[in-house]
Amino acid sequence: MSPEPTRPAGPVHVLAEVLAGKRIGAFSHLTLAAPGVGERHRPGSFVAVSVGAPGERTRLARRAFWIHQVRALGGHAATVSLVVDPVGPGSRWLAGLSRGDRVEVTGPLGGRAFALPKEPVPVVLVGEGAHSAPLFALAERLRERDCPVHLLLGAADEAHLLSALEARRIARTVTVATLDGSVGVKGPTAALLPDVLRRSGAAVVYAAGPVPLLHAVARAAEDHGAWSQVALGVPTPCATGLCHGCPVPVVGEDGVGRTVRACAEGPVLRGDRVRWDDLSVPGDAS
Ligand SMILES: Cc1cc2nc3c(=O)[nH]c(=O)nc-3n(C[C@H](O)[C@H](O)[C@H](O)COP(=O)(O)OP(=O)(O)OC[C@H]3O[C@@H](n4cnc5c(N)ncnc54)[C@H](O)[C@@H]3O)c2cc1C
Ligand code: FES
Repeated sequence: MSPEPTRPAGPVHVLAEVLAGKRIGAFSHLTLAAPGVGERHRPGSFVAVSVGAPGERTRLARRAFWIHQVRALGGHAATVSLVVDPVGPGSRWLAGLSRGDRVEVTGPLGGRAFALPKEPVPVVLVGEGAHSAPLFALAERLRERDCPVHLLLGAADEAHLLSALEARRIARTVTVATLDGSVGVKGPTAALLPDVLRRSGAAVVYAAGPVPLLHAVARAAEDHGAWSQVALGVPTPCATGLCHGCPVPVVGEDGVGRTVRACAEGPVLRGDRVRWDDLSVPGDAS
């Protein structure tokens, strides 16, 4: 595995402008001009967004969102897009923004992004719901390295499935699972994983989604003899490494158990290093 190429270091805090906001299925897709954030992005990094209008007393707090894609657009070198699942007050506020609105953004955050294979090996990317967001920029980066990319996307229903059309553009194969069978195979995402791993001959499995899915990915990858890298979306109250409110139990290189901070030592971790049975499972935000 090799780290991403060198980029400007450290997060920036900026007042971003919403360039576009559109509803696709259950999600809102926001495109932001957030100078400095896109330029520093590595797939697997995220931003903390101050939800509530800048300066308003009703401001709630900061909420974490994966960086979905980074694109040059209309004179901006590196716009940042987010996928927002409106599940609570902060995400509903964010999902309601439209062109010309402003929002405070800190990012990119996270001490460890997805590591890329040195060789052009086959890879499988597994995601559920809005948490599939960081896999799209990752797929593009892997394709640049000539890695055959196979995507497995899951959701509760078609409305919560992220960008299946875009997925077909960036991946060699796309497999879809929904719990209600409204599109793709009916059933849980993880049930399809052993077959996708076998067909693809994957050497590395990348995943983003709720903890039970990530655990299943780590197990299936190990059974298949592949590496796994999982992007943990566990709650990150400060997102900057200060509060220790995002503990993840792991086993270190030395075989000794310890706790790391998801926001600072993650959010991407090796699946075989996480002590899954000791990790508390937040509500399924997919
Ligand atoms: C690194 C990271 C990346 C994320 N990326 C995205 C993304 O790209 N798109 C997206 O829609 N959401 C993402 N989330 C989840 C998002 O930050 C939370 O859903 C956030 O709490 C929404 O704020 P809210 O005020 O709307 O809801 P809240 O009132 O904070 O929460 C609403 C409900 O969701 C549950 N919840 C809150 N946070 C989480 C969490 N992290 N995991 C599971 N359940 C949770 C709460 O228990 C509650 O039931 C990400 C979270 C992290 C930590
Ligand atoms: S969220 Fe505060 S240390 Fe990770």
